[in-house]
Amino acid sequence: MTTGKSVGSDKAKSVRGVAAILPRPFLKWVGGKGQLVSRLRELLPSGFHHYFEPFVGGGALFFDVKPGKATLSDLNHELMACYEVVQNDVAGLIAMLADYVYDKDRYYEVRSWDPQNLEPTARCARTIYLNKTGFNGLYRVNSKGLFNVPFGRHVSPTLCDEKNLRACAKALQGVTLACKPFEHVLEAARSGDFVYFDPPYIPVSRSANFTAYARNGFDMNDQEKLAQVFDELAQRNVNVMLSNSDVPWMHERYARHTVRLIRARRNVNCNSASRGAINEVVVTSY
Ligand SMILES: C[S@@+](CC[C@H](N)C(=O)[O-])C[C@H]1O[C@@H](n2cnc3c(N)ncnc32)[C@H](O)[C@@H]1O
Repeated sequence: MTTGKSVGSDKAKSVRGVAAILPRPFLKWVGGKGQLVSRLRELLPSGFHHYFEPFVGGGALFFDVKPGKATLSDLNHELMACYEVVQNDVAGLIAMLADYVYDKDRYYEVRSWDPQNLEPTARCARTIYLNKTGFNGLYRVNSKGLFNVPFGRHVSPTLCDEKNLRACAKALQGVTLACKPFEHVLEAARSGDFVYFDPPYIPVSRSANFTAYARNGFDMNDQEKLAQVFDELAQRNVNVMLSNSDVPWMHERYARHTVRLIRARRNVNCNSASRGAINEVVVTSY
């Protein structure tokens, strides 16, 4: 049995001179668990065989744990295409990113490119560039599926973090990548495996309903379907952990499992004034 508690040991100096642990997410992702990772790590099972993350997003927990055997998945095709390139052509990606500059006109030019006309590495470089230079690292597409996030104001953003990309590539070696709905984990997970679900949040208020991560939103029917998948996996002795908003429905629906509250800085609102520290629910089956 492999341990789920290995902690990253590669260190690198960040631009501010503070030691940063590598790897860390190569994309900024709405709902990213970067600030919660140390708390989530404490809640991992003491050991597991295979690691599954079916709503991987930026993959903050995965990159922190660096499990040997893992399956990462997300419905966002552009995102998973990036993971494949980082896994298989990190040198080509770094070379392409080196040609990009932080400039408003360049941003809108790159944004206008149709990603379907680009080969995989160029497509991934475009996504990373837009993510590092666009407003708040948002991923948002219009009804035609075209990326429509405006240019963001940043202070000398790092467009190509070579050390981190190489560390991410190393962590991704041997990892299975998929672009499938979360319920596909039912087909693959076995007793003794670990599944971490980080779905789009249940809105805590009507003004906070930023749940449209990809083209399809994630409604309460999906949350109920996810709870059923959680129950079924738990019954099969799969170790399951799930995080979501601190709303009454979560406490009621997951009452038969262990429900904890942890303090989170939520970053789901476009308006930075409405961000702040709130509770987040973490459910474990073990
Ligand atoms: C909260 S984010 C994940 C954050 C991530 N764990 C991190 O640390 O950055 C939720 C993700 O679920 C994905 N998603 C939405 N609906 C999905 C579905 N039905 N199946 C799989 N993934 C889905 C979105 O594309 C998004 O990346």
